Amino acid sequence: MRFDTLIVGSGLAGLSLALHLGERQKVGLITKKSLAEGASYMAQGGIAAVLSEADSIESHVRDTLVAGAGLCNEAVVRHVVEEGREAIQWLIDLHVPFTADPEEAGHFHLTREGGHSFRRIIHAADATGAAVQQTLIEKVEKNPNIIVLEHHMAIDLITASKVGLKDNRCLGLYALDCMENKVKSIAADNTVLATGGAGKVYLYTTNPDTSTGDGVAIAWRAGCRVADMEFIQFHPTCLYHPKAKSFLISEALRGEGGILRLPDGTRFMPLHDERAELAPRDIVARAIDFEMKKRGIECVYLDMTQKSPEFLRTHFPTIYSRCLELGINISKEPIPVVPAAHYLCGGVMTDLSGRTDVQDLYAIGETACTGLHGANRLASNSLLECLVFSKAAARDILEKPKGESIELPLWDESRVTDADEEIVIHHNWSELRRFMWNYVGIVRTRKRLERAQNRIKLLTEEIEEYYSNFRISQDLLELRNLVLTAQLIVKSAMLRPESRGLHYSRDYPEKLSDAYDTILKHG
Ligand code: SIN
Repeated sequence: MRFDTLIVGSGLAGLSLALHLGERQKVGLITKKSLAEGASYMAQGGIAAVLSEADSIESHVRDTLVAGAGLCNEAVVRHVVEEGREAIQWLIDLHVPFTADPEEAGHFHLTREGGHSFRRIIHAADATGAAVQQTLIEKVEKNPNIIVLEHHMAIDLITASKVGLKDNRCLGLYALDCMENKVKSIAADNTVLATGGAGKVYLYTTNPDTSTGDGVAIAWRAGCRVADMEFIQFHPTCLYHPKAKSFLISEALRGEGGILRLPDGTRFMPLHDERAELAPRDIVARAIDFEMKKRGIECVYLDMTQKSPEFLRTHFPTIYSRCLELGINISKEPIPVVPAAHYLCGGVMTDLSGRTDVQDLYAIGETACTGLHGANRLASNSLLECLVFSKAAARDILEKPKGESIELPLWDESRVTDADEEIVIHHNWSELRRFMWNYVGIVRTRKRLERAQNRIKLLTEEIEEYYSNFRISQDLLELRNLVLTAQLIVKSAMLRPESRGLHYSRDYPEKLSDAYDTILKHG
């Protein structure tokens, strides 16, 4: 198989890029499950952009910089914010069914989320990701130049050095066909990692099962630098219910007046921050974590009962009906919530076109660290980043001359056998997710990080031995990527002797005067 561009991942970044390239190139798109699964599809809140007259680029830039706690790259922030309106217009032109403003004919409704000074989140009720993704999937499926390979997982890149050439160009990759359990070599002039984040490294996450840090791990193994991996965003409000796995209670509920309460009904956020429920996420998640630990309570509550049932049904139909299915009528009772791992702010280092350190390899979306999010992503900036960087990467790719066709080596399975104890993978996976939650969560200490580091070392050895001796499976590949991602998170956290944004250390509660990125590189 050979493509002009091979995209790994079918979230908003991957699909948008495929559509930008699909008019002029032969594009391959591989995805671990079906096109309609993944974190973008699950996104509830919306996309931040300056769309109202009252708002301004300066204000969106300022809010992003404030949330990013001194670590955003201001030039990148400005670039992304300035491109916002055009990015949204692209989606409107594709007929994404954004919610109309009931009070202003011809306008879209804009909601508000934590850290934003204005209403600037365009949305499709409370299922924005699904609405956007369905629209894009339809277009991708109709484009004969885009070949979609569902149930395929990227294993590792094939770089020029692997075929005896002197440079470090990316020539394509090995992918596991998860249905057939066969490995394929796929050649491409350009390879783009758009695999999303790594929430599954933690026990509790809002992310789908596919978020296993694949892009970051693959890029790192190929020699790319990664940055700011310690900044894991914990969403303050994931539904706390034994029957609901990873169900997000959108920040837009707080944007529309939701109040966080203790089990006895006391409001607590004003004691933690003057912006109360609308403080940036790092602050709200830490406040909830503090109250839960101090009081020994299992969750806090998000109270929407001041809103009418009609308002809640119209604005939040997905959340309203899912909660009702679980026996919670959100117009009558508060919603039990806990923080959960939500977003990886760091990732593979890229420039403004999504280029990485390896020639012809790009990273976009949550996989990348562009400098937009700094130490804490502002709510709803991530889908905007996917749109802006997929367009920039497409522009860069389309300007390049066509590459030469090089024969890729086949996957060598001659020295492996079938695994003797598959259960080991599941044990290791659970162990990893639990200790990452306990030791590398919302509040960290040096000692906890060291504990995690020791355990990761043991797991890495076991998994590498398993990988070398046994036939690979999707579970094994995901575990291998998760453990490596965990290692990069812990290493980065240990290199930051301060508290900033999403990284809070009890040993170093203050912020240093100089802000620096944590950049990890080989050697
Ligand atoms: C949410 O709806 O709260 C999630 C939005 C985001 O993660 O930016």
